[in-house]
Amino acid sequence: MSRFEEVIDRKGSSSVKWDLTKTVFGKDDVLPMWVADMDFLPPEDVLEALGNRLKHGIFGYTFVGDPTADSIKDWIQKRHGWKIEKSWLQYSPGVVPAISTIIQALTSPLDKILVQSPVYTPFFNLVEDNGREIVNAQLKYQDGSYSIDYQAFEESLKTGVKLFLLCNPHNPSGRVWKKEELTKIAELCKKYNVVIVSDEIHSDLVYKSHTHTPLASLNDTFRDMTITCIAPSKTFNLAGLQASAMITPNSELREKIAGIHKKQGFFTLNTFGISGMEAAYRHGEQWLEEILDYLQENVKVTKNFLEEHLPELTLVDPEGTYLLWIDCTKLKLSDEELKNRLLDKGKLALEPGTKYGPGGEGFVRMNIACPRETLLDGLERLRVALG
Ligand SMILES: Cc1ncc(COP(=O)(O)O)c(C=O)c1O
Repeated sequence: MSRFEEVIDRKGSSSVKWDLTKTVFGKDDVLPMWVADMDFLPPEDVLEALGNRLKHGIFGYTFVGDPTADSIKDWIQKRHGWKIEKSWLQYSPGVVPAISTIIQALTSPLDKILVQSPVYTPFFNLVEDNGREIVNAQLKYQDGSYSIDYQAFEESLKTGVKLFLLCNPHNPSGRVWKKEELTKIAELCKKYNVVIVSDEIHSDLVYKSHTHTPLASLNDTFRDMTITCIAPSKTFNLAGLQASAMITPNSELREKIAGIHKKQGFFTLNTFGISGMEAAYRHGEQWLEEILDYLQENVKVTKNFLEEHLPELTLVDPEGTYLLWIDCTKLKLSDEELKNRLLDKGKLALEPGTKYGPGGEGFVRMNIACPRETLLDGLERLRVALG
């Protein structure tokens, strides 16, 4: 039996996914397949490192030192072929707070920030909550897959955009952007003098026959206009440890970010975040290979199930991420009806596509990072709800 088959009861562990369905969906009795974390234990080496740190017993002030920075540097080079310098690293309790810090550091109130919907909800919230303005270059959806509308992208840049929030790989479409696509959009950003935030939190979760390219690794010009956000949280299921890193080769941009951190009084990550991140990047590779196989199989099981039992639903083939983006538009249900059917009939909590901005209408996002038994339960609930 694969180690990922074990069903672990997460209820009562202050889990957003399992313990907040009543608050978010108004229901307790639903299977949660929404928030992007996994129902699996992380690598054994991570548990051991955290256990050792706990046993040490003293939790005074800590800092992110060279061994942790080296573990990140080595991981990025080994997994993604990008040679970074330790001095380019800055830390944040998460990619979401990192993006907020970057927005504050590099833009002013009312500045325009570009996103590509449908996209991860906080991209919108962070821009709006910081008093900046959203400009949206919606992705093209054709024949069940997503691509970039370069003309719309350039038109958007022309409106005076200051910053572009790229999701690479893309949540929720599961696209792993190709070198050529990244090159074209980065060239356009260069032309209009726009800095890029490349959120690469899903970069390690890429399926066979696809390759993640760190946008900043493409050439020195792109490198100097890009801030790359990474974290071990999605890859190794460590979101609760709150550790992430920004990679900013351009020292001017880095200093601006440091300026905001100073204003926030932000200095370091928490003790367990540091230990967990280092252990994961140092020792987690074998676990990652295994989980990718398991997730790929979950994708296959879902695809087969939908083809057999819910042929009107279209699964957007994921190239990466464990978040499946399912097109339910053929059912011709309103988003309210879709939501109610899922919750009331299916007792299933999925993310409604409308959360991801224009283009998300009639879609749902399903998190399949769970044991197969849970997945099959979820798929059966989906059949009851929408079949
Ligand atoms: C694209 C993207 N960025 C950031 C995050 C969350 O980052 P963090 O938990 O590090 O703030 C997620 C989580 O789903 C995500 O999908």
